[in-house]
Amino acid sequence: KSKLVPLERAACDYAASLEQLAAFADYVVINVSSPNTPGLRQLQDETLLRQLVERLRCQPACPPLLVKIAPDLEDAAIAAVARLAYEEGLAAVIATNTSLDRFDLADRVLPQTGRCLKDEAGGLSGVPLRARALQVLRCLRANAGPQLPLIGVGGIDSAETAWERIAAGASLVQLYTGWIYRGPELVPWILEGLQQQLDFYGLSSIQAAVGSELPWQRGES
Ligand SMILES: Cc1cc2nc3c(=O)[nH]c(=O)nc-3n(C[C@H](O)[C@H](O)[C@H](O)COP(=O)(O)O)c2cc1C
Repeated sequence: KSKLVPLERAACDYAASLEQLAAFADYVVINVSSPNTPGLRQLQDETLLRQLVERLRCQPACPPLLVKIAPDLEDAAIAAVARLAYEEGLAAVIATNTSLDRFDLADRVLPQTGRCLKDEAGGLSGVPLRARALQVLRCLRANAGPQLPLIGVGGIDSAETAWERIAAGASLVQLYTGWIYRGPELVPWILEGLQQQLDFYGLSSIQAAVGSELPWQRGES
C-alpha cells in the first residue's frame, strides 16, 4: 500500500492497484513485508492478511495471488501464513523480503555514511540474510505441506545457494542483491550449476529436486 494510506484503508488501496494492474499481470504479489512503509508489516497478522486476500481474490479477473513475507516473523506467524496460504488457495508464498535485523553486522560502520549498520534505516539484503531466509523457507515448507509452491529469495548468489533453497523446498528462486554484485552472467552460471547437480543425481527436472534436501555436490561445477 502507499505510505499515505492508513492501515485501516490498506485493503482498498491494494484493491485499487490490483484493478489497474490485473490485465497486465500473470501473477500478483501482495507485498506486506517492506520495511520502508510504516505499519505495513502489521498486515502479516493472520486476521488482517486473510481479510486482505479475501478482498483481492473476489476482484474480477484476479490473477493468481502470492504473498511475500518478512524474515523477521516468529515461527508461529510463519506457520499462520502457511496455513492461510493453503486455506485461501494462494498460488505461492515468497520468502523473504529484507530484514530489520542487522544480524552480526550491527556494529559494522558503513564507510559511505560513517554510521553503524544498526543506526541505518531500511532492510538488510544479500549474504547476511541468507541463513534466515532459508530458515523461513523451511518453516513455511514444514507447515504448508508439499503442495504449496514456495519462492525462495534472500542471499542467493550462486548455483550452490540456489540449489540449497530448492532442495529445502523452493520451486522458484529470485535474486536481487546477487544480481547487483555479480551482474547478469549470474543467471546462466546458476543454471549451468543446477543442471550439473541434476545430472549428478540423475534427475530429469528441477521439480524432482524441490524439497529433496539433496546436498550440493562439490566439484561438479
Ligand atoms: C534496493 C532494494 C529494493 C527493494 N524493493 C523491493 C520492493 O519494492 N518490493 C519487494 O517486494 N521487495 C523489494 N526488495 C526486496 C528484494 O526483492 C528481496 O526480497 C530481498 O532483497 C532479498 O533478496 P536478495 O538478498 O537477493 O536481495 C528490495 C530490495 C532491495 C535491496
